[in-house]
Amino acid sequence: MLKSFMPIRKNEEPKSNEITDKELYLNRREFIISAAALALPIKSDGKKLNFTKNQELSTNEGQTSSDVVSNYNNFYEFSTGKTDIVDLAKNLHTHPWSISVEGLINNPKGYDIDELLKLFPLEERVYRFRCVEGWSMVIPWVGFPLAELVKRCQPQTSARYVEFVTLLDAKQMPGQKSAVLPWPYVEGLRLDEALHPLTLMAAGIYGEVLPNQNGAPLRLVVPWKYGFKSVKSIVKIRFVQKQPQTTWNATIPGEYGFYANVNPQVSHPRWSQAKERRVGEFLKRDTLMFNGYAAQVADLYTAMDLTKNF
Ligand code: MTE
Repeated sequence: MLKSFMPIRKNEEPKSNEITDKELYLNRREFIISAAALALPIKSDGKKLNFTKNQELSTNEGQTSSDVVSNYNNFYEFSTGKTDIVDLAKNLHTHPWSISVEGLINNPKGYDIDELLKLFPLEERVYRFRCVEGWSMVIPWVGFPLAELVKRCQPQTSARYVEFVTLLDAKQMPGQKSAVLPWPYVEGLRLDEALHPLTLMAAGIYGEVLPNQNGAPLRLVVPWKYGFKSVKSIVKIRFVQKQPQTTWNATIPGEYGFYANVNPQVSHPRWSQAKERRVGEFLKRDTLMFNGYAAQVADLYTAMDLTKNF
C-alpha cells in the first residue's frame, strides 16, 4: 500500500488501476473527514487552560471541529496511519516531562514543563494549518511565543539555527520500533524564524491541554510552513551554528526541504501545492503564499530563491 508522505519506490510503481483505486480511496477519506467536520459534536475531557485571546494574530475563518483535529493525526512515532494515533498515544506519560534547552546560549537549563508554562503568559491564536499532503485546517492553539523563550536563553552570536527534538522512547512510542524514519524526529528553524512573533510553542488546543496525539505536552507551530515542521512532544531545544539535519529533509531531500514554506508555486514531486482541501469543505480552495501569512513573513526570504530553498 502507498503510504502518505513516503516516496514511491521503483519496485512499487502502482499499476494504473491501483492509482484509480487510491484516488477513490482518498476522495472517500476526504469525504469522511469533511462529513465529520460538519456533523460531529464537540466533546472533550481535557483540562482547561488559562489564556488570553490574541485577536490580532488570529484568523477569523471558521475553525475546524476539535473532533477532527484530535482524531486525524500525523505522528509516526505511533503509527503511519492517521486514525489509530489517538488510541496508540493514550499511554504516553507527559508528566513529569522535562525539556532541555542547550547549545550556543548563555542560559542553558532543563525546564520542567509545568515550570516552563508558568514563565510565559499563554495566549490563544487561531492559525491556518496546511499539511503538505493537501489538506488544511483552522486550529485555535494555546501557547506562548517561542521568541520569549529564545530571549530568555540569551543566544550567543554564533547561534544561527534552533533544533527541536522529540522524545525517543520506543516503549512508549511503538512506531519507533520500525525504521520508517530515523529517530528521534528532529526539526529546525533559522534563528530569525524562531524569533518571529507568529512562531508558537503550543501547550493546548481549543482552550484545553494538548491531547497526546497532537504532541503533548509541548509542540512547535509555525503557521506559514507545512505541518511537518510542527514537531511534537519536544524534549530538547538546541541552539546551533549549522543548519540542523531535519528528519524529513534527511530522509527524502528531493521531496522535503528544510524551509518547507507553504508555496503554491512550488510543487512537491507527488502533490501540486496550488490548491488544498480545507477539512469540512467540498470544493478545493487556492493555497496562499506562505499560507496567507506573506505580509508578516515574506521579508524573511527576500534574498532567497524559493524554488531551490523549498
Ligand atoms: N512530530 C513528530 N514528532 N512526529 C511526526 O510524525 N508529524 C508532522 C507534525 N509533527 C510529526 C510531527 C506532520 S507530517 C504533521 S502534518 C503534523 O505534525 C500533524 O499535526 P496534528 O496531528 O496535530 O494535526
